[in-house]
Amino acid sequence: MDTLKSMILNGESCSYDFAFVDADKRNSNEYFELLLQLIRVGGVIVIDNVLWHGRVVDPRVNDLKTQAIRDFNNKIYNDHRIAISMIPIGDGVTICRKI
Ligand SMILES: C[S@@+](CC[C@H](N)C(=O)[O-])C[C@H]1O[C@@H](n2cnc3c(N)ncnc32)[C@H](O)[C@@H]1O
Repeated sequence: MDTLKSMILNGESCSYDFAFVDADKRNSNEYFELLLQLIRVGGVIVIDNVLWHGRVVDPRVNDLKTQAIRDFNNKIYNDHRIAISMIPIGDGVTICRKI
């Protein structure tokens, strides 16, 4: 997050074509919001592990990490700043195109 913030302060907003998010899951939303500033219109942010081995759709699972992924999936599904396509291969990746 510090690195992404310094890139924004460095004037690099709207200059990247692609970003891949695959770090600590509870901070995905913060990474996404910073990356959305750094990516140009038409650029792509790919989010890994959006299925979380199926736990996101299992109502019995409510640990903080799973809940964070679930909340983040719902948020980007309803986010009009991007167009998304969720690819259900492996552990699930969501491709977000900035519009
Ligand atoms: C599943 S690996 C991702 C590997 C990466 N996609 C690659 O291809 O090399 C998760 C990565 O997130 C990093 N990570 C975990 N928690 C982090 C945090 N709080 N801040 C920054 N990076 C973190 C780990 O060090 C690890 O490199």
